[in-house]
Amino acid sequence: MNHPNSPDVLIVGSGAAGLSLALRLADQVRVTLLAKADLTQGSSLYAQGGVAAVLNNGDSIAAHVDDTLKAGAGLCHPDTVAFTVEHGAAAVHWLIEQGVAFTRETGPDGKPHYHLTREGGHSRRRVIHAADATGKAMETTLAARARAHPNITIREQHIAVDLITGRKLGRSGENRCLGLYALNKASGHVEVFSARSVVLATGGASKVYLYTTNPDTSTGDGIAMAWRAGCRIANMEFVQFHPTCLYHPQARTFLITEAVRGEGGRLLLPNGKPFMQDHDPRGELASRDIVARAIDYEMKRRGLDCVYLDISHKPADFVRAHFPTIHARLREYGIDMTRQPIPVVPAAHYTCGGVMTDRHGLTDLAGLYAIGECTFTGLHGANRLASNSLLECAVFAESAFEHISAQLAAAPPAAGDLPAWDESRVSDPDELVVVSHNWDELRRFMWDYVGIVRTNKRLERARHRVKLLREEIREYYSNFRINSDLIELRNLALVAELIIRSAQERKESRGLHYSRDYPDTLPQATDTVLVPQHFDSDQTTG
Ligand code: FAD
Ligand code: SIN
Repeated sequence: MNHPNSPDVLIVGSGAAGLSLALRLADQVRVTLLAKADLTQGSSLYAQGGVAAVLNNGDSIAAHVDDTLKAGAGLCHPDTVAFTVEHGAAAVHWLIEQGVAFTRETGPDGKPHYHLTREGGHSRRRVIHAADATGKAMETTLAARARAHPNITIREQHIAVDLITGRKLGRSGENRCLGLYALNKASGHVEVFSARSVVLATGGASKVYLYTTNPDTSTGDGIAMAWRAGCRIANMEFVQFHPTCLYHPQARTFLITEAVRGEGGRLLLPNGKPFMQDHDPRGELASRDIVARAIDYEMKRRGLDCVYLDISHKPADFVRAHFPTIHARLREYGIDMTRQPIPVVPAAHYTCGGVMTDRHGLTDLAGLYAIGECTFTGLHGANRLASNSLLECAVFAESAFEHISAQLAAAPPAAGDLPAWDESRVSDPDELVVVSHNWDELRRFMWDYVGIVRTNKRLERARHRVKLLREEIREYYSNFRINSDLIELRNLALVAELIIRSAQERKESRGLHYSRDYPDTLPQATDTVLVPQHFDSDQTTG
């Protein structure tokens, strides 16, 4: 069959992970790429700091591994960490070959070198970047190549709803992922896609929180779809809060990169007093969990709306050259970072947990892969080291590519007989306010009860609320024609429940998970693995 809805490989998501994989595969096979928004929309586009990799002689694999393990607070899988770090330089060189214009400077030898910046938790300068807009450079370069590739069919504004598996269709034999349903947002129709391999590259779930650095696409769709298809999901309690999101009434979500601290920026109280040394000897360059918690502590203790990040002691030319995007954006809000401190607060930033995969991105379900932020590979442990995410996207795109291309000949052909989406028993939604109200409520109670500091009581409250919300959403979903807001709300509510349940299972504080009821770290580090088959049946389907 030669139809874009039946490619060899169907990739859901066109961020750094999905695009990298599509470009690697497309010289061999036909790929269809689904994006629920415009092609370049996703967290990748907004990445600022850069990609961490061992790229010069002053650095070493051992040092990058060690920093990753330290940030991960005993929970990283050392073999995954070593694998990722060892493949980092090659993945960065592949990006350079694709045309990504990382920032260069003239070295002491008079020759051009790639500039490497520093971020929290890194013992060396090892973050390659394109000024302060690394994600934009990567995403636009890769997207342009994908658009030009004859073997890649792009379907923008198509939101995947659910995976189709042999088991869901009651077919005998090995349970495989056969394809998926996706809503064409322009036509309002649900289309069926089949493929020999399906890849989830759908990004994280930080939109489950009221305040986030993430764009609207981060609604945990891939995690929720994989769960409903029977895949295990791990370590969802480890939500990374970035310490420095701009605090300004007109700025909805704007990150101030950690590289500002890497280049000497200091965190200050409103009276100008630095406070990070009171919390960690590494000061501003302590790992992200520690800095975010310190800010949260100071804000709550002193009743502050924000703290301040100050780099105005550096020469103005230096600040403008290193942070042109941030400088320009802040000027729009009347803030001149070369002369005054920037008001900042922590915000949900990165989902460390996700769909369990092996080193090739293979999930529990045959024919289904997952790569990028929607996964749990064991790399990040209890806290991701800054700039290790784009690294993971690039490295796992390559390893998934190798596995998919090696297996494709043996994989059964794309099923040509998948049933169409059944809309016979639904009507048009009567009250859309139900969806928007539930969306707001969910994000607010997740922020209040399942945020940077947790307690048993707050988690129990959140669990009760999410149960009620999910019942309401399930009823709405079964009775009314779906739209993208409802699809995302359904996924966010499920992911919220997975985060809460994971947080309740962890009876300690470790990395990003801090509980007032269990402030100590247990001697033995274990992953929180949730298995859909162990949940009540309504929880797996809803
Ligand atoms: P995304 O880039 O989020 O892409 C997800 C894609 O999936 C999108 O195309 C979306 O449309 C699509 N999608 C989702 N659901 C569906 C669906 N149901 N149907 C169809 N399509 C769907 N990391 C670093 O390593 N270094 C940094 O400097 C850095 N800076 C960051 C700055 C910001 C502001 C943010 C938000 C994140 C930053 N991160 C950084 C994290 C990093 O950017 C992300 O983890 C990474 O880009 C995720 O890439 P991805 O390809 O997995 O997902
Ligand atoms: C940043 O630039 O501070 C973000 C880096 C990251 O999330 O890895």
